[in-house]
Amino acid sequence: MAKPSLTFVCQSCAARYSKWSGRCDECGEWNSIEEEKPLSSGPGKKSLAARGRTVTLSDLSSKEAPPPRTASALGELDRVLGGGLVPASAVLVGGDPGIGKSTLLLQAASAFARAGLKVIYISGEEASAQVRLRAARLGLEQSPVKLAADTNLRDILTTLDAERPDLAIVDSIQTMWSDTVDSAPGSVSQVRAAAHELTRLAKERGSAVIMVGHVTKDGQIAGPRVVEHMVDTVLYFEGERGHQFRILRSVKNRFGPADEIGVFEMTGSGLSEVTNPSALFLSERGTPAPGSVVFSGIEGTRPVLVEFQALVAPSPHSQPRRSVVGWDGSRLAMILAVLESRCGIPFAGLDVYLNVAGGMKISEPAADLAVAAALLSAREDVALPPETVVFGEISLSGALRPVGQTENRLKEARKLGFSTAILAKGGKTGSGDGMSLSKLEDLTAFVGEHFGAG
Ligand code: TYD
Ligand code: MG
Repeated sequence: MAKPSLTFVCQSCAARYSKWSGRCDECGEWNSIEEEKPLSSGPGKKSLAARGRTVTLSDLSSKEAPPPRTASALGELDRVLGGGLVPASAVLVGGDPGIGKSTLLLQAASAFARAGLKVIYISGEEASAQVRLRAARLGLEQSPVKLAADTNLRDILTTLDAERPDLAIVDSIQTMWSDTVDSAPGSVSQVRAAAHELTRLAKERGSAVIMVGHVTKDGQIAGPRVVEHMVDTVLYFEGERGHQFRILRSVKNRFGPADEIGVFEMTGSGLSEVTNPSALFLSERGTPAPGSVVFSGIEGTRPVLVEFQALVAPSPHSQPRRSVVGWDGSRLAMILAVLESRCGIPFAGLDVYLNVAGGMKISEPAADLAVAAALLSAREDVALPPETVVFGEISLSGALRPVGQTENRLKEARKLGFSTAILAKGGKTGSGDGMSLSKLEDLTAFVGEHFGAG
């Protein structure tokens, strides 16, 4: 079959079409479909079969020292970056509008400048005066940071090329505008061009680049997915409105662990670091109530205690509600199904609400047992014994599986004054740190031990 001479590719999700359309059917992105010509087509282009130059090959072993990182005074930011800023790296920071990205990056700019780096902050969203006002509010107006307010990519690249900063911060990638691409700023092709040029600048000139990326309604960084592939590190700045906690989470990091978190608190004078997140997430906790269970989780490299809260109530609807904040909805459905079919505890006709306190998002399967405990405790209206933490994974058979880093989880719980842990049999508990451990084989045993016959 002859190949179609034209291919149209969505720049956002890489879906292929034989004709152009305004909206991608696959990912729903508007104006992201562009014609893609094969490499060898066009006048003056050689076919790939023609000989090119030979690429230099080298060994895997190297005598070069690992890249020197620069640590800022913001320890939580350094942790998420994997121990400081790597020279010539490209970092993308995404987050909802108003969550505090510009605030974080201005503080980071100042911290890195004080650590001796030459830092340029380019704002495409706010006028210089506005950025200066924020700097004054943060008490950072004396920091040796150079500031520009511009959106023309060509001018910005020329300036960065001449100035050779150690770190350039671009706020935001969606406002950048390149005259080589004829579509509006913020469009997929503009964002891709800006990200590509800035990443290339980072690699060629050795300046680290931090870019801000807006997120779409469903929480993804807006624009083409390829931007996330281009950069070395992707961070998300998250938080609930109405809560002062902000979590900086690494979802990709070529120079450090992914899934690391840094915790901040938004105050009247900027973001302050939270070095003991467990204490913060549990700070609003009162006396143990039915439906409330403390989970000892691991976020990145450190243990964090959070509280799961469940509410189970008779439903007035024919289709009972299942509402989750901070955890995965399909995982909740799985646990309800296991409770129902393995332990004989029905949730039909009952509305179920599950919430992680403090605006934290948990994705570990290790939280399964804590969720099941919260659901049972809410349903039976029985509180778990005070000072108890719960963790363990639940399999579809109802068996409990031990989870990694059991010792660290217990240690953190001990540190925060917990005395009992409910967990799966078989994990490496070490000395248990003086905690009383209730090790269980399956969910039925858990129900029998803590909720009578269920
Ligand atoms: P901002 O950094 O502008 O958010 P983004 O760049 O992600 O859109 O932060 C905006 C919010 O932060 C705004 O609602 C005010 C609040 N804020 C404080 O509470 N304290 C502060 O010191 C600053 C600078 C901002
Ligand atoms: Mg901003």
